[in-house]
Amino acid sequence: MTSRKLDHFLESNINDLKENGLYNEIDTVEGANGPEITIKGETLINLSSNNYLGLATHHELKDAAKQAVDSHGAGAGAVRTINGTLDLHIELEKRIAAFKGTEAAIAYQSGFNCNMAAISAVMDKNDAILSDSLNHASIIDGCRLSKAKIIRFEHSDMADLRAKAKEATESGTYNKVMVITDGVFSMDGDIAKLPEIVEIAEEFDLITYVDDAHGSGVTGDGAGTVKHFGLQDKVDFQMGTLSKAIGVIGGYVAGKQSLIDWLKVRSRPFLFSTAVSPADAAASTRAIEMLMESTELNEKLWENGNYLKEGLKKLGFDIGDSETPITPCIIGDEKQAQTFSKRLYEEGVYAKAIVFPTVPRRTGRVRNMPTAAHTKEMLDRAIGIYEKIGKELKLI
Ligand SMILES: Cc1ncc(COP(=O)(O)O)c(C=O)c1O
Repeated sequence: MTSRKLDHFLESNINDLKENGLYNEIDTVEGANGPEITIKGETLINLSSNNYLGLATHHELKDAAKQAVDSHGAGAGAVRTINGTLDLHIELEKRIAAFKGTEAAIAYQSGFNCNMAAISAVMDKNDAILSDSLNHASIIDGCRLSKAKIIRFEHSDMADLRAKAKEATESGTYNKVMVITDGVFSMDGDIAKLPEIVEIAEEFDLITYVDDAHGSGVTGDGAGTVKHFGLQDKVDFQMGTLSKAIGVIGGYVAGKQSLIDWLKVRSRPFLFSTAVSPADAAASTRAIEMLMESTELNEKLWENGNYLKEGLKKLGFDIGDSETPITPCIIGDEKQAQTFSKRLYEEGVYAKAIVFPTVPRRTGRVRNMPTAAHTKEMLDRAIGIYEKIGKELKLI
């Protein structure tokens, strides 16, 4: 017989979530995740993916993946340190380093597991981590795993960061202190104040870690937020994912050769989990090559982002202070944000409601992620639907 305690735990907690409207029913996308998607037979304009450059369905990536399956098979076969390091993984890491302007790079199986791996390989219980209050869950979990003291600073508040960096370093309590931040914050689309962060880091000798999951492929002509500010030689960890703008799966850290050497011998998901498949590695490599060859997709992304932003702003929506193509429509009331998202869905736009605890209370929103693959016609159609539902719900 299986555990009755577990049954009780699951039943009571799931019911609790359902009663409070917090149980997430997950939609199944029938077919590829492109600028339009099909759910339950209906075609919708997709404004919810992180496929910023449309590369997830790009023919060049698909060709690279197919060739890699033919030449290298379906799986990597082993953990990389045993005998799962394929020439395709090495090629990918070389490309990432060149793309990011660093000496070396290490690839992981996902962005989430990269943060779990890299932070805890360097920080321990005798250290402290200064973490932006809006950092992603994977950063938070990576910090927790390290057992370092986590000191949150107010979102992008440089005075708060400076005061806490001073206190932490002058206390003499910690061996090392790290400052860690998202490069682009995915709920609002704002960019971290990296020049000030680097200045504070230099003043107090902090280790700098930038998670550029939403900046890579987007800011800095595609090379990311660190490049956007020209700080490639001042940031210790340039972390990123291969799952968003790159369109595939995986995560990475780009940095100094000595850092990468250490991560290859000490970061546990690298040592104890099989690497991404040959198809993933080859498709990611091709995507990065494409970004290094041309900024065309990046320019299209920004053009589409600006077009959608202008359209929604003109209608009277509050689109916040986004500095990137990420376009929130801030509604405030959580229930209304959810109703809005539901009505958009019924009319043909797939844009998810984001509410507390992912964003602060009373800042419920519908978040739009335009991509380079959207056509003007799709964006116009989406704006038209926003107008219709916005008026219907008296939001504009
Ligand atoms: C800032 C940030 N870091 C890391 C991740 C995790 O990336 P992945 O989906 O590749 O695991 C995400 C994904 O949402 C993210 O937004």
